Amino acid sequence: MANNHIMLYLASVILLVGIISSSFNMQGIAAENLSKQKLTSRILQEEIVKEVNENPNAGWKAALNDRFANATVAEFKRLLGVKPTPKNEYLGGVPVVTHDTSLKLPKEFDARTAWSQCTSIGRILDQGHCGSCWAFGAVESLSDRFCIKYNMNISLSVNDLLACCGFLCGQGCNGGHPISAWLYFKHHGVVTEECDPYFDKTGCSHPGCEPAWSTPKCVKKCVGGNQLWDESKHYGVSAYRVSHDPQDIMAEVYKNGPVEVAFTVYEDFAHYKSGVYKHITGSNIGGHAVKLIGWGTSDDGEDYWLLANQWNRSWGDDGYFKIKRGTNECGIEHGVVAGLPSDKNVVRGINTSDDVLISSF
Ligand SMILES: *[C@@H]1O[C@H](CO)[C@@H](O)[C@H](O)[C@H]1NC(C)=O
Ligand SMILES: *[C@@H]1O[C@H](CO)[C@@H](O)[C@H](O)[C@H]1NC(C)=O
Ligand SMILES: *[C@@H]1O[C@H](CO)[C@@H](O)[C@H](O)[C@H]1NC(C)=O
Ligand SMILES: *[C@@H]1O[C@H](CO)[C@@H](O)[C@H](O)[C@H]1NC(C)=O
Ligand SMILES: *[C@@H]1O[C@H](CO)[C@@H](O)[C@H](O)[C@H]1NC(C)=O
Repeated sequence: MANNHIMLYLASVILLVGIISSSFNMQGIAAENLSKQKLTSRILQEEIVKEVNENPNAGWKAALNDRFANATVAEFKRLLGVKPTPKNEYLGGVPVVTHDTSLKLPKEFDARTAWSQCTSIGRILDQGHCGSCWAFGAVESLSDRFCIKYNMNISLSVNDLLACCGFLCGQGCNGGHPISAWLYFKHHGVVTEECDPYFDKTGCSHPGCEPAWSTPKCVKKCVGGNQLWDESKHYGVSAYRVSHDPQDIMAEVYKNGPVEVAFTVYEDFAHYKSGVYKHITGSNIGGHAVKLIGWGTSDDGEDYWLLANQWNRSWGDDGYFKIKRGTNECGIEHGVVAGLPSDKNVVRGINTSDDVLISSF
């Protein structure tokens, strides 16, 4: 009898997993098969720096970024935690948002100056050794959107999402789905960083960034003294994808604040230092998610997107980067997701100072 129950249970789990995995769209962000030799080699290569910097049409400058000094390709790849997007949105009809085409948009926009009271927009974090980019991009954008909408400084918890969303979001430190993060905000909310701080605080400061850390456990209890888990939850009212059209992406950022984007990372991207990135050389290593905060046009006339990465300030342009805009470079215009913040648990506390929640990891 008990055996029968177990068999039935196993059968339904297998069926469920089958349904879910068959609904994943395996196109788009799928990394190449890398050889063992490749995976154990260094990600930073003098030859790549040389190739990019000697290319007059590159539009950007390369360097051996300290963040990945001595890191292997495998260690770098681990940070690229975007899994292929669920295809038929098994979690329930995710809408695609477009905007009124008559909206007049500026030629240049930077969310850090547009909402200068919101210091979270310009923060650069560090995901450490974990493939949690899908959670960082979402949590950081939502924190900014709370500040923009409710005029409050807040820092929401990546750890809550990473540890507690479970298989609906993916596999924690082994990667996840950006859209699922936004659905989690809507259905379960997310606590503050103060309540549930990021587990991997040290960033990548020690040699080799090993060992790789496993996904933290879901505890559902604030570490901070008198805060309650349920009261610390901040919710989204919606979760959506943004249309591929650059005008729609710009309008979304202009009206509601930063968005989360996913794109394909090639070897040369690890070497980005300044300028407007476009893929020049190297293999496809994996899918990555970050926060898009603005746009503009460079002195050379190149249209770009402005983004904040979470690889500390010792990578790229003080932690930021620009990438070519309008040509779906590395798939960046096809992977935009966001949601709007809810006033639930917020309006009541809007006067209490949330400043203490601005803690750097
Ligand atoms: C990658 O390797 C796996 C298993 O080793 C193989 O099944 C798959 O076809 C390979 N994919 C590509 C694109 O070579
Ligand atoms: C957030 O904190 C910064 C620095 O403490 C402060 O300058 C800013 O006014 C605060 N913004 C809001 C919306 O409270
Ligand atoms: C960035 O790296 C430095 C030195 O490696 C480290 O001390 C700092 O904590 C890191 N920053 C974050 C936000 O993790
Ligand atoms: C990288 O390795 C070299 C040689 O082993 C060592 O001197 C250096 O401190 C390492 N750098 C980092 C950031 O770990
Ligand atoms: C916030 O505080 C101000 C001044 O202390 C008060 O006038 C206002 O009603 C308060 N607002 C809320 C939502 O509690």
